Amino acid sequence: MDNNQPIGIFDSGIGGTSIWREIHLLLPTEKTIYLADSKNAPYGQKSKEEIVTLSMKNTDFLLKLNCKLIVVACNTATTNAIKELRAKYNVPFIGIEPAIKPAATNSKTQKIGILATQGTLTSELFYNTTQKFHNTKIIEQVGHGLVQLIEDGQINSPEMNQLLHSYLQPMIEEDIDYLVLGCSHYPYLIPQIRKILPDHIHIIDSGEAVAKQTKKILQKTIGFSTSSDVAPLFYTNTNPKVLQEIIGCNYQVIQKEF
Ligand code: DGL
Repeated sequence: MDNNQPIGIFDSGIGGTSIWREIHLLLPTEKTIYLADSKNAPYGQKSKEEIVTLSMKNTDFLLKLNCKLIVVACNTATTNAIKELRAKYNVPFIGIEPAIKPAATNSKTQKIGILATQGTLTSELFYNTTQKFHNTKIIEQVGHGLVQLIEDGQINSPEMNQLLHSYLQPMIEEDIDYLVLGCSHYPYLIPQIRKILPDHIHIIDSGEAVAKQTKKILQKTIGFSTSSDVAPLFYTNTNPKVLQEIIGCNYQVIQKEF
């Protein structure tokens, strides 16, 4: 493994670009390769076995492109497959998990809400995390339909707004003071969510923490890149239109079967 190889990042679709953004911001001299498995999105309703198989397929693709480290920019894939990935491949993996700890630690009402996929909320890893915070009431809500609408470019649609209202209103009534976004697609919904939630409710996600962890692991293991080739590359296995819109026109998106 050599320090000038790229960092590989994958998600079930375009949502993990919210994590890529944080990594690119913190480590601008690293080359990043992002893989959007949009053809198979959403992962949230799939079985653990299917999620493991898809995560291995994505990892194989990124390793063929010579990546030195893999960021699983998907809560659903991390909570269901990271153990299996670490057991199979000889490369460091960074995962993303819902930020329950900072929310539970800082909550004054001792009530927090979490919006995530079914796959994340029913995972063993998520269950084990919640068991550490007995004194906090955790109100769980599956974000049915949200990922698909984001993948379809419907972030600002009335349908999205209606779904968000129906998911968040019960949490507001329960008096939460933290909302955890437990899916890497959801940071793109923060402007709409902010309009629905009262001002005193904090919204947190795990993007910055993942970027910091990536930096720490590189520092401790393979080292930082010194190469001048730092242009990020994006791969998708569907029509690249929505991905291109979300990252902006400065970056190259390649459409490819994988
Ligand atoms: N972006 C993903 C996550 O963080 C996956 C969503 C999905 O494909 O259902 O969970």
